[in-house]
This record gives sequence, C-alpha cells and structure tokens, in this order.
Amino acid sequence: MTKRQQKRRLDRRRDAAGPAVPAAPTTAGARSRVRAGRLSPERPVPSHIPRPPYLHGPGGFVPSFPPGQLVERMRAAGRAAREVLLEIAPAVVPGVTTDELDAIAHEACIARGGYPSPLNYRGYPKSLCTSINEVICHGIPDDRPLDVGDIVNCDVTIYLDGVHGDHSETFLVGECEPEAVRLVRVTRECLWHGIAAVRPGGRVNEIGRAIQDHAEAAGFGVVRMFVGHGVGREFHTTPTIPHYYDPDADGILEPGVTFTIEPMITAGSYEVGRIWPDGWTAVTADASLTAQFEHTLLVTASGVEVLTLLPGESWELPLRDASARR
Ligand code: MF3
Ligand code: CO
Ligand code: CO
Repeated sequence: MTKRQQKRRLDRRRDAAGPAVPAAPTTAGARSRVRAGRLSPERPVPSHIPRPPYLHGPGGFVPSFPPGQLVERMRAAGRAAREVLLEIAPAVVPGVTTDELDAIAHEACIARGGYPSPLNYRGYPKSLCTSINEVICHGIPDDRPLDVGDIVNCDVTIYLDGVHGDHSETFLVGECEPEAVRLVRVTRECLWHGIAAVRPGGRVNEIGRAIQDHAEAAGFGVVRMFVGHGVGREFHTTPTIPHYYDPDADGILEPGVTFTIEPMITAGSYEVGRIWPDGWTAVTADASLTAQFEHTLLVTASGVEVLTLLPGESWELPLRDASARR
C-alpha cells in the first residue's frame, strides 16, 4: 500500500468516526476535578438521642427489642430516612456547600429522635455522605460550594428505635450537560430494575443481572467495589448485594430480609481509581462522572416493599422538579 493510499484510508476512517468533538462533558476534560475542602467542627448530638452500637465501646449496652417488632421499626426508620432526604433536596442549589447539606441532615435526624448513622461510624466525621461528579460514594461534606452542572449524591442513614434506614439520590445542580442528565436518569432506572428483580425465594444475583443489563445497554458501567448490604439493627450486614451479575451471589432472598440496593453507575471506567487520603472518598479511575441511588427494601411473602418512601409514594417516581431543573 502506498503512502497516498494509506492516507486516503485514514481519511475515510476519520470521516466514518464523524467530526472531531470537544472533550466530552462526562470526562474530566471539561470540568475541574473535585478536591478536598475544609471540614467544620464536629456537630454535637443531644444526649437523649440513643446511639448505635458502634458508638459504645466494647461491652456497651444496647437495649434489645422483640424480633416481631423489627419490620415495623424498619418501616419507621425507612420513612424517616426518606423525610430527611426530602428536607435536603430543595437545598441542593448552586452555591450551597456540602457542609450546609450535612447540617440539614444532622438536624433533621435529631428532630425525629434519630441518630445520623454515618457520624463516627468507623471514624467517618460527618452525618451525611455527599458525592460530587467523579466521586463514586462516601464523599465527606466540606466547604466546597456546589457549582452549576455538578451532580451530587446525598446519602442519608438514620438510626431510629434501634434500626437503620439507608437512602440516597443523585441531584442535578442547575443545568447539567445532557450526558450527565442521562447518567442520572439511567442510574435511577437501574435501581428500579434491581427492585423489580427481587422476589421471595429468588437469588441475590438476579438483582445485579437486571442492573447491569440496563446500565450496559445505555453504554454505562457498574461499579464492582461497593455493594448493597443487609441493614437493620446493624448498619452493614449480610447479605451482600452486587450490582453486576455475580454467579457466586447465589443466596436465596427469604421473606423478612431487609437490605439495600444502591447501584453506582459510571459514564466511563467502573474501576475505583483511588480512595482519598481521608480514607473514604472513592473516585472513578478516569475521573468520569458517576451517579447512585439507594433504597432500603423488605422481602415480603409476595414480593418486595420499599421502606424508604413516604406513605403513598411509589418507587417509579418521575424525575422530580428538584432533581430535573434546579
Ligand atoms: N450510607 C452508606 C451506604 O449506603 C454508608 C456510608 S458509611 C459512612 O452504605 F461512614 F461513610 F457514612
Ligand atoms: Co447502603
Ligand atoms: Co447509603
């Protein structure tokens, strides 16, 4: 092949690939990376609020309750987590700092007689997780103001009456790039598909299969390193719920089990690049955008109950105005 032939072939291939496009907004090229900010002093919790077991030293006393009350208590904690998230939602606007969102979460948990589960859980310093853009999960609220075009996941967990309710959504901050809007929408749908795959007697890995199918059909990736989890008296317990198809996750979902589904979906690489020196903040390997939604669920005799909703709310919610336009 001559040089000229080679050049013509190359040109043809370039044409087939379409015109050159500016750096995709879902890659790090078009926006600056999230950086660690300053933390505010620790927020106090009034002494009348019961603490979760991990705040008591070894041998600390945690009052028990009859197992027959577990489901009712989980319903109350789940509803409370939803209420707290709905208090945060209207505050997610350009210019608000994630620390201000943390303050809302903190006070809203206490106002319900609950403890903000993340606070001092394994050394975590705040009451809420706020994960912006390429941060996959466990972002720590600080003095960074949210910027127009950011996407931010707010992850609420409340310890109420001896049990945890765990719930999160990703919000659009002002007008976002179309690809960011699509990522957030598809991630929300991934959670729905995961929930729809839950059935009593079914296998855990059917959940991840449904999520992965939906994410990959949209051209997105599924984070492997973080998983859904059993939740109840403990914040994180069995079963482990992968959000991708894992043939080894062949456990059976029995009625009465309470657990989370919380898919983390990426526009680019699904690998975790690194954890920040704070020991928590996890970012994508290529700094591409990532989104997450989470519900706490109960396997029932006939199907599944979403615990982190208000009475009358259904889980197939349209994008709320707060998420869609702000
Ligand atoms: N809420 C997170 C989850 O979905 C856990 C946060 S742990 C923390 O499992 F310490 F970072 F708060
Ligand atoms: Co969780
Ligand atoms: Co959570």
